[in-house]
Amino acid sequence: MSTTPRPVIGIFGAGKVGIALARLAVDTGYTVHIASSGTAADTAGVTRYFAPGALAADGHDLPALADILIIAVPLRRFRELPLGAMAGHIVIDVMNYWPPIDGTLPDFETADRPTSAIVRDALPASARLVKSFNHLCYHQLEELPRPAGASDRVSLAVAGNDCAAVETVAAFVDDLGFDPVPSGSLEESNMLEANSGVFGHPRPASTAPHIGHRPRRVGQSTPCGQRSGGFARTSGSAARR
Ligand SMILES: NC(=O)c1ccc[n+]([C@@H]2O[C@H](COP(=O)([O-])OP(=O)(O)OC[C@H]3O[C@@H](n4cnc5c(N)ncnc54)[C@H](OP(=O)(O)O)[C@@H]3O)[C@@H](O)[C@H]2O)c1
Repeated sequence: MSTTPRPVIGIFGAGKVGIALARLAVDTGYTVHIASSGTAADTAGVTRYFAPGALAADGHDLPALADILIIAVPLRRFRELPLGAMAGHIVIDVMNYWPPIDGTLPDFETADRPTSAIVRDALPASARLVKSFNHLCYHQLEELPRPAGASDRVSLAVAGNDCAAVETVAAFVDDLGFDPVPSGSLEESNMLEANSGVFGHPRPASTAPHIGHRPRRVGQSTPCGQRSGGFARTSGSAARR
């Protein structure tokens, strides 16, 4: 049995997705700190009822408390976060550009790049951004976790440029009850965005080539997790569900 300590999770955003992920991670045995735009006391008022066991924090304290940071705030507000303090962290980008909610954001509207590539460029160079959890709805994230090997276990894309960070996030995804599917780099992550065919459509990994395993052009580097056709199964998968 592995004795590797689990990473501590820090979640920016105590809304629909932040609370869903906090509940899942706490249930799976992770230590979770979570912050909203208010004070830790404000957030505690939410977590007490909606994510018992998650530890409310002030957003500026979150990077010092956690190993893996999750950004689960509206995209229009991510620049308010303590981005500089994310240096050296694995950061999971759960965000989507959703104009009915975000309004029109010129830097995302006019850019011919995936949103996560723009977010990555706003972080310190040593922060390792991975996109995941964004293409399922918050209630699907809560309802669909299954034990490893279950025939109806659904897949979650894991996209990033740093293979070690992608592998770490894949293990977290697996622990939370989903099959992680290697989905290429951040520059390719437009296939996971809100206007893509995968958004809100959960599918088992066996039928999920739509979020990964795509053929590579000659000369392109091998993307994370695709050397062996997928991620190695971790030992701590959510066996209770
Ligand atoms: N809803 C879904 O099903 C879903 C699924 C996948 C991905 N997403 C993406 O996930 C992100 C969050 O969506 P959501 O539906 O969870 O939004 P939401 O319910 O509106 O919650 C947003 C949360 O972000 C917090 N926040 C805003 N600014 C902050 C700041 N500067 N520091 C810390 N926290 C801050 C808000 O806190 P206050 O209330 O204190 O302002 C609130 O707790 C969006 O980018 C969305 O596209 C959503």
